[in-house]
Amino acid sequence: MISEEQQKELLRRAAGAREKAYAPYSGYRVGAAALAESGEIYAGVNVESAAYTTTGHAEMMAIAAGVAAGERKFLALAVVTESELPPFPCALCRQAMAEFDRGEMIVIAGNLRGRTRRTTLRKLYPHPFGSRQLGVDPQKY
Ligand code: THU
Ligand code: ZN
Repeated sequence: MISEEQQKELLRRAAGAREKAYAPYSGYRVGAAALAESGEIYAGVNVESAAYTTTGHAEMMAIAAGVAAGERKFLALAVVTESELPPFPCALCRQAMAEFDRGEMIVIAGNLRGRTRRTTLRKLYPHPFGSRQLGVDPQKY
């Protein structure tokens, strides 16, 4: 479990990152912050592309930033957007997050007015496609 203070800090970091989002096509800025097992927090934003489908989602980008720094487990992820109803990560992001979930990943969604919703990745995505299906043990990698 993570503390209320850590959750607030994650939301703050996600909101701060959101300001740097690159979303000229949709105009919809998304910021994310992922708390790694080490205690470090990694930020991500949506990075749109004129070719649309190559757009990077903020949640995936936050996870990728952590992985690039050597992290392999994440305890929580916060995502902040302008939406009245704060959105949880999309299905693609859920799959990407599941790769580095130890089974307890907290997911927090927030908006600019301070409204928040909280759940777990396991609730959002109970049966992820995973290493078991491939017969691979990622720990041995
Ligand atoms: N977006 C994210 O960053 N994360 C999601 O999980 C859903 C969608 C971005 C993609 C696009 O730049 C914008 O939000 C509108 O779809
Ligand atoms: Zn997504």
